[in-house]
Amino acid sequence: MTTVTSELPDADWFRLLRRRLLAWYARHARALPWRGSQDPYAVWLSEIMLQQTQVETVIGYFDRFLAAFPTVEALARADEEDVLRLWEGLGYYRRARQLHRAAGIVAQEHGGRFPRDPAVVRRLPGIGRYTAGAILSIAFDDRQPIIEANTLRLWCRLLGYDGDPRSAAGQGLLWAAAEAVLPRRGAGRINQALMDLGSLICTPRAPRCEECPAANGCLARSEGRQLEIPLASPKPQVEVVREAAVLVRRDGRLLMIRWPEGRRWAGLWDFPRFAVRAANPIELRRELADGVLAMTGVQVAAGDRLDVLRHSVTRFRITLECYAADFLGRRRMTSPTIETRWVPPTAIDEYPLSSTGRKLSRLAMRL
Ligand code: ADE
Repeated sequence: MTTVTSELPDADWFRLLRRRLLAWYARHARALPWRGSQDPYAVWLSEIMLQQTQVETVIGYFDRFLAAFPTVEALARADEEDVLRLWEGLGYYRRARQLHRAAGIVAQEHGGRFPRDPAVVRRLPGIGRYTAGAILSIAFDDRQPIIEANTLRLWCRLLGYDGDPRSAAGQGLLWAAAEAVLPRRGAGRINQALMDLGSLICTPRAPRCEECPAANGCLARSEGRQLEIPLASPKPQVEVVREAAVLVRRDGRLLMIRWPEGRRWAGLWDFPRFAVRAANPIELRRELADGVLAMTGVQVAAGDRLDVLRHSVTRFRITLECYAADFLGRRRMTSPTIETRWVPPTAIDEYPLSSTGRKLSRLAMRL
């Protein structure tokens, strides 16, 4: 049985949905710190943080970030490293760098006022169709639709759409529905109601249809297909990776690197780390010394293994072996490479690190 809907329901269906959504939202809206504000900068910050991160995690970060940089001008003036330090642990650090760059553009080219033209908003770094729609509808109540992970699932089910929601046809249908539901006034409220309904009720594996205000008009539910819809995207192949991090000591200081542009952790500091393959300890020592030398120009004698950390980044399952090493000398590098610095352990706290970088720094303190 297939019911690929390629047309939208009629205006009455949307009108009823809107009414039920608003009634539900009046009772069940989540009290989130950014919801007290119509300040486009606060709304923008929340939406960037929420792009890849759960609401519960974002709350604390949002409050700290806003306390440190209360206005777009304050953020524009900040050092990137301070911005990254406050982002530490949230992951997807590119978001923070793009937000910082975009703040510079808003401060300089728009007099500190967030632009209202969706096309201009979407040219800001880090802002796509969803984020532009969310900021403009929530902060200014502009009639702009949104589709993100939760509303994508919700709309697929409401419309009984069992095609691929990432296809051009699927996207066209979903965005058209997201626009059709919006009233002339109150778009921000409807958009937030849709997101809350998607994340609280229309959950991926066990949707709470009995509590859903839209259950009566839901096509997936009318056919009992709410668990089959939306069509799952193919799972990316997991890749197993073995890496080593090397804590190099020299007179009580530690060798740190700063990831350059274009790398996953661009702008963050770290300890030299790279993929390793050696199977036996002698080969591995050579590989560690070669790796540190190639990355930093520093010659080392690799020592004991201190710990093994396991973590995942996107589709990579990484085993990170941590080694101590001693400084032997420095070789001049022919081509400029990664920025390095010898840092006293007590100062590492000020540097923005990835989550595993911070764990390594705790190991380093005990050396
Ligand atoms: N997820 C992303 N943006 C959100 C918002 N404004 N409210 C609730 N959940 C969200």
